[in-house]
Amino acid sequence: MALWISTDLSDLRARIGAWKREGLRVGFVPTMGNLHAGHFSLVKLARKHADKVVASVFVNPTQFGPNEDFARYPRTPEADAAGLADAGCELLWMPSVDAMYPYGSDGAVRMRVPGVTEVLEGAHRPGHFDGVATVVARLFHQVQPDVAAFGRKDYQQLAVIRYMVRDLAFPIELLPGDTLREGDGLAMSSRNQYLSAEERPRAALIHRTLQAMREGIAAGRQRADVEAQAAAALATGGFEVDYAAIRAPDLTEPDDAPGPRVALIAARLGRTRLIDNLEFTA
Ligand code: PAF
Repeated sequence: MALWISTDLSDLRARIGAWKREGLRVGFVPTMGNLHAGHFSLVKLARKHADKVVASVFVNPTQFGPNEDFARYPRTPEADAAGLADAGCELLWMPSVDAMYPYGSDGAVRMRVPGVTEVLEGAHRPGHFDGVATVVARLFHQVQPDVAAFGRKDYQQLAVIRYMVRDLAFPIELLPGDTLREGDGLAMSSRNQYLSAEERPRAALIHRTLQAMREGIAAGRQRADVEAQAAAALATGGFEVDYAAIRAPDLTEPDDAPGPRVALIAARLGRTRLIDNLEFTA
């Protein structure tokens, strides 16, 4: 499939406008590039719900903290474009930082989603979700998609975007995409490539620990015990743990009544911070 790469907002708008005048539905997959099979599965998901698929590649400075990996975040535009074309994407939007933030990132109008941004990832990465909501709102205005696909691996990000879409009445249907995993269970992520050869097999402990958390709850154990045991198992495996938590789907602390739950982990192995989650019913 031929892929057009747009680096100019008026070109992007002209192309999408022409599709809309033909009555075509537009699907959207926002990314920060360095694409892997997980991203391509989101393109395929969007394609099922739309006639044309747009992806964006933009490493967004406003969602990185001062000591995070913005400068070294892997940038692989040629491979990304080739993979997107194979996955069935028609249009790649690659804005510059100046095009995205004409007043600079310090002068940008910011979004802030209350509540769900303040816990877990939000507590450990202050300002991160403000940056995500800020750029996703801009991307939605630029692309004006009918549907947009986001991975379930970034569970809390999806919750933040869902809140924003509802609160600001964006006429966009969100499509959550399942997490793709390596053979040993490690969730696919661009950050996995930071892992050394020695760390890589150890990283699968995150997924095994999530499964153990689910089994602990199924066995009737107290949530606090299950969380503490998960954190201890990760620490023994050499991780520095930010959180190992079991939450209700809206990320609040659940009561004891049966119902849907999500186990979430964020932990650092060496210099690589990994996140993952597992949804289940208690
Ligand atoms: O999930 C990501 O890759 C990013 O957070 C997103 C949604 C593209 C915003 O920069």
